[in-house]
Amino acid sequence: MYAMIFALQGLFSENDRIMKPVLQEVEAPNTGIVPSLGKVFVETYGCQMNEYDSGIVKELFRQANYEPATSVEDSDIIFLNTCAVRENAHAKIYGRLQSLGYLKKKNPSLVIGVLGCMAQNLGEDLFHQELPLDLIVGPDNYRSLPDLIGKIRTGEKDVSLTRLSRTETYDDLEPKVVNGIQAFVTIMRGCNNFCTFCVVPYTRGRERSREPESIVKEIKSLELAGVKQVTLLGQNVNSYQYESYDFAALVKLILNGTNIERIRFTSPHPKDFPMHLIQLMKDEPRFSSQIHMPLQAGSNKVLMDMKRSYTKDEYLDLVNNIRNEIPDVGITTDIIVGFPGETEAEFQETLEVVREVGYDMAFMFKYSEREGTIAKRKFIDDVPEEVKSRRLIELVDLQTSISLQKNLEKVGKTFEILIENTSKKSKSELCGRTHCGRMVVFPLPEGMNQSLEQWIGKIVTVEVTAATSATLKGNFTGFKS
Ligand code: SAH
Ligand code: SF4
Ligand code: F3S
Repeated sequence: MYAMIFALQGLFSENDRIMKPVLQEVEAPNTGIVPSLGKVFVETYGCQMNEYDSGIVKELFRQANYEPATSVEDSDIIFLNTCAVRENAHAKIYGRLQSLGYLKKKNPSLVIGVLGCMAQNLGEDLFHQELPLDLIVGPDNYRSLPDLIGKIRTGEKDVSLTRLSRTETYDDLEPKVVNGIQAFVTIMRGCNNFCTFCVVPYTRGRERSREPESIVKEIKSLELAGVKQVTLLGQNVNSYQYESYDFAALVKLILNGTNIERIRFTSPHPKDFPMHLIQLMKDEPRFSSQIHMPLQAGSNKVLMDMKRSYTKDEYLDLVNNIRNEIPDVGITTDIIVGFPGETEAEFQETLEVVREVGYDMAFMFKYSEREGTIAKRKFIDDVPEEVKSRRLIELVDLQTSISLQKNLEKVGKTFEILIENTSKKSKSELCGRTHCGRMVVFPLPEGMNQSLEQWIGKIVTVEVTAATSATLKGNFTGFKS
């Protein structure tokens, strides 16, 4: 331990206020306590994989004897873990950095760093924009963060590290990204698909999967901490492949090796849904029957230009196969409107597929041209902004009416619900999800409704009594038999 403290000593300037307690520790051996090297705040943008990565960063700093800060005002180091998927993700970060400038003026030793996909995407260019910024680090370089902070504290300016790795999976770290009874666990990183619109393969690098036993070990320790439901994460989660283990084999290993109540996953690609995976979902009650299946577009021409590797009919066949095997499966999707060259007729084909599939829910976006992507090189972003906006409104309206109809079909039926929390809107009600991923809000009967928190994590049966496009309401009917 002392070797490490002396090593760190060399990284700090003489008058660094955070260095002093470390020197005291060297002078007072055998206390067993290493004083904090500073307070770290991590603010997360983007997808769940970024949430998980922020957990990795916090864990790395905990191991390096830093402590968590409670707010940006209270911090010695602020990290923004960023997204690059659409232009508005970048715009948010520019705005946020500018708004943090006042803290840097008050405290010149404050370190501000940009992590994540925008850091990887823009790299050192970010230093040329007059922003209050000291550090830029990409998603595969978080292990170096404590050392890089050391460099900044010895006076180095504009420090950056954005080297993509073919092997980094942070296997040994257990960030415990827990929200009540739920947790995220990243099982693979990167993407090899290169959909033409998408920046992710450039910001996250090539696909690589985590060693299966390290995943089981992490889930077991989450279980000990009270977690009942894990969501397995990856940019392309069902492409998971580690030696002979494919995604279905990994899920089986988790089911056999842990008692976790429910397993979900996101985001899959339609190309990786073999029959044995669908069968496993059908047969295993602990493997939730909910599939997020990004469509992106309904026209073969647009799908081909997007390089999505399936046609409209192949996609619809897959949906039919899944529904034949698992009739009550929940299917959600992602759709982009206004991809370069998308005609009105092609957009109408997207609406047709949306009507035909009848998604439970959808994330819908206007195409946003991204630096470095194939679409940016190959096509002109020629659908006018007002046309993109109009198409998006039309699509959202259609999907809202479908979501309402799908939810109304559930009225009168009874579902098993894993209770996740008390309802956000009404503290006298509980909420939880069906196997197919729908949120249900319900009160408990007289006599059971004193301290509602004790029911969180239990599985109950609930009869649905009312529905909106976003939520189901219901009545408690019993405990899981
Ligand atoms: N790996 C996941 C999701 C990646 S990003 C997958 O393959 O499904 C999440 C969603 O953002 C994508 O599914 C897509 O619908 C949307 N998206 C990605 N790039 C975009 C862009 N340039 N413009 C608009 N939406 C985009
Ligand atoms: Fe992006 Fe396509 Fe990879 Fe998803 S599959 S992350 S949309 S390149
Ligand atoms: Fe955004 Fe990176 Fe996730 S671009 S969506 S944070 S993988």
